[in-house]
Amino acid sequence: MELKLGFIGFGNVARAFSRVLAERRSFLSREYGLELKTTAIATSNHGCVLSATGFDLVKAAELSEQGLSLTNLTDSLPVPDPLAVIERCDVDVLFETTTLNVVDAQPAINHIKAALNRGIHVVTANKGPIAFAFNELTTLAAKNNRCFFFEGTVMDGTPVFNLVERCLPATRVLEFSGILNSTSNLILTRMESGLSFEDALSEAQSRGIAEANADYDIDGWDAAMKAVVLTNVLMGGQAHPSQVTRQGIRNVTARDLNEAARSGKSIRQIARSARTSEGIEITVLLEEVPAASALGSVRGTSNVLLLETDLMGEIGIVENDPGVEQTAYALLSDLLRIRESVAPPD
Ligand SMILES: NC(=O)c1ccc[n+]([C@@H]2O[C@H](COP(=O)([O-])OP(=O)(O)OC[C@H]3O[C@@H](n4cnc5c(N)ncnc54)[C@H](OP(=O)(O)O)[C@@H]3O)[C@@H](O)[C@H]2O)c1
Repeated sequence: MELKLGFIGFGNVARAFSRVLAERRSFLSREYGLELKTTAIATSNHGCVLSATGFDLVKAAELSEQGLSLTNLTDSLPVPDPLAVIERCDVDVLFETTTLNVVDAQPAINHIKAALNRGIHVVTANKGPIAFAFNELTTLAAKNNRCFFFEGTVMDGTPVFNLVERCLPATRVLEFSGILNSTSNLILTRMESGLSFEDALSEAQSRGIAEANADYDIDGWDAAMKAVVLTNVLMGGQAHPSQVTRQGIRNVTARDLNEAARSGKSIRQIARSARTSEGIEITVLLEEVPAASALGSVRGTSNVLLLETDLMGEIGIVENDPGVEQTAYALLSDLLRIRESVAPPD
């Protein structure tokens, strides 16, 4: 089966995914009968292009890494902007991986709506649209009988939504706690080892895991958006990002971290969501937790999520030292779910 792919946003995540697709090409053909052709790519400053014959994705990744326009790709037809790409493209699955916008998640929400309205399946790693418009977008996808998957929005390719939806039927998530922002956790744990805040942030940026605007990591926005996504998707909440009580890591000093360590504690940025008599309360706060606990022992870019459920008690998931390749895997696993839904196995 051939699936035609399109990309809105072609940065760290989409480029890593392109390389996975190239590396797994014959495996996907052999094991899944899947032949992939990329016919559309849109970026902000590096061109918006269509192709009837299909782009060489590795070449596209190289051009984008060199800061060159995608209009240099063979057989590329330039198009004015991302919405024009979505309107004109011949694509079965669209990957929306534009930058996070914590104010209103635009224009990503409009990209996703335009694609679903054209009958295109959508995969996103962008948590903004899920935090601001989960119900609206899933309703639109259902109305158009199209898939809308977003596993990569929280803990990259680690199954969080798939785990609950597919492996924990009839189980209710009552509350959760977790370390959800890799950049902040990397900075805190590198500072525990004597590195400066700035050097640790540079490491996160060079590994492609920091947000384009790293303030979103440092000031707790990314973790807050993820906490809203988890609350609305897993707990049936109606939360809005503005209602999260949020604290970033900007003011944590090496001295604070060392003092905590002397009493067997770690300072970590912890996201929590819990049901109260007034509804669901969501917080992203710095907490001192026992260094040997599930939350306190998570180091580097690692993430952890502890789900408190009614039928299964507490379930913990750890993602150990992820990079952008793990987000690329999320896009692949969502693509294979679409493959399964388009043509279920016999
Ligand atoms: N990096 C990670 O480890 C990771 C993990 C999980 C989730 N995510 C999420 O995945 C998304 C992408 O992350 P990334 O690291 O790949 O970001 P990135 O490297 O900054 O790339 C973003 C891409 O989006 C394009 N873009 C920005 N605004 C656009 C617009 N209005 N229309 C069309 N294209 C636009 C940019 O264009 P230009 O190339 O012209 O700048 C760039 O190609 C973000 O929402 C992020 O939160 C990232």
